[in-house]
Amino acid sequence: MKIALLGFGTVGSHFYELAREQDAVTVAAVLSRRPRPELSCTVTSDFDEIVRDPEIDTVVEAIGGLEPAFSYVAAALRAGKNVVTANKQLMCAHYDELLELAHEHDACLRCTAAAGGGIPWLTSLARTAEMDEVSAVEGILNGTTNYILNAMTEDGLGYAEALEKAQELGLAEKDPTADVEGLDTRRKLVLSANLAFGVSLREEDVPCIGITQIGKREVRLAKARGLTFKLVGRAERVNGKISAYVCPTLYPDSAPEAHMTGAENLISLYSERIGKQSFTGEGAGGFPTASNVLADCLAIARGGCSAYYTDKHAPCELDNSAAEAEWLMRTDAAILSGRKPTAEQFASYESYKASDSNVPLLARLAGGAKW
Ligand SMILES: NC(=O)c1ccc[n+]([C@@H]2O[C@H](COP(=O)([O-])OP(=O)(O)OC[C@H]3O[C@@H](n4cnc5c(N)ncnc54)[C@H](OP(=O)(O)O)[C@@H]3O)[C@@H](O)[C@H]2O)c1
Repeated sequence: MKIALLGFGTVGSHFYELAREQDAVTVAAVLSRRPRPELSCTVTSDFDEIVRDPEIDTVVEAIGGLEPAFSYVAAALRAGKNVVTANKQLMCAHYDELLELAHEHDACLRCTAAAGGGIPWLTSLARTAEMDEVSAVEGILNGTTNYILNAMTEDGLGYAEALEKAQELGLAEKDPTADVEGLDTRRKLVLSANLAFGVSLREEDVPCIGITQIGKREVRLAKARGLTFKLVGRAERVNGKISAYVCPTLYPDSAPEAHMTGAENLISLYSERIGKQSFTGEGAGGFPTASNVLADCLAIARGGCSAYYTDKHAPCELDNSAAEAEWLMRTDAAILSGRKPTAEQFASYESYKASDSNVPLLARLAGGAKW
């Protein structure tokens, strides 16, 4: 397999290093905006050179963001080249279009590193969905918020202090919005739900609440009840409808999720005959993420890969009306908890948010947690 690598940052540089150890793959060219004299392959800033090169059969996209990543990936697929990417933003925003291009041009498209970093989560999910009916996917999909919430719970830090610590350690970006507002979790959830249920969800339809409204007081009250906050994405199929949302979730000490410290991920799937399967490990980082990118390349190089993990991507209206859960709502006036319809809880949250002076807190109680 002859690869063109787009981008030479954290993921790209680690992928380059890992790929050098594999006989089955060769990085023949790197697309870079700056000179890279240390590299022994062709280095170019001209993507057309790559797309026109008939020797290159696979493009690894490690630029990130929507543009020019989308134009490059679409052009590569149109040219019949396989594409491997870790870019969840791109995959969510252009899901149907990219899957169709891969099908149409007989190319393979893989994005295992886009959800779960170094964990073979999407491949395992696809494998299960092929032979069993997946009823739900759920998990801690973002290491940054896990680190922040853990520092608040274990070290008694406030939200701002914990975020600052995560930034100092390089675990949170200077602009942490995508992580702390839950957008990164939502993209990974949408990719997971699409595979699990054979649908195509619109990212912006999925209700999403991040962790910014969790303060020292909330953590202390939860801790006194033996509960721990996590930011969790959950998608499930209820009565034929697909429900999905991202929100703070409280777990009791008996739940494995409560014990995820640092920047780890823990993701679970529930399927009819196999039951629950959980996956844990490094959800980000150079080598973990690049290893999943490499695994995708090796799987394609071995042959027999279909265009995407699944052929199914039916348009789907998200519908939280049939889902129910145990919820905790804290408003200016009261703290309420109990089993409630999910759609109703998100609607109440929005209306409290518009009318109360403080931002309300909405959290799901999971794993048998009681408030
Ligand atoms: N880092 C992780 O742990 C991780 C985990 C899972 C998924 N991902 C995903 O992997 C992707 C890459 O992330 P990363 O952390 O490796 O990002 P990064 O360190 O910021 O690297 C991005 C690279 O792309 C290059 N680039 C940007 N725009 C370009 C353009 N127009 N033409 C050519 N090169 C361009 C940058 O070049 P310059 O050096 O010139 O700026 C840089 O080398 C993202 O989609 C991210 O969501 C990352």
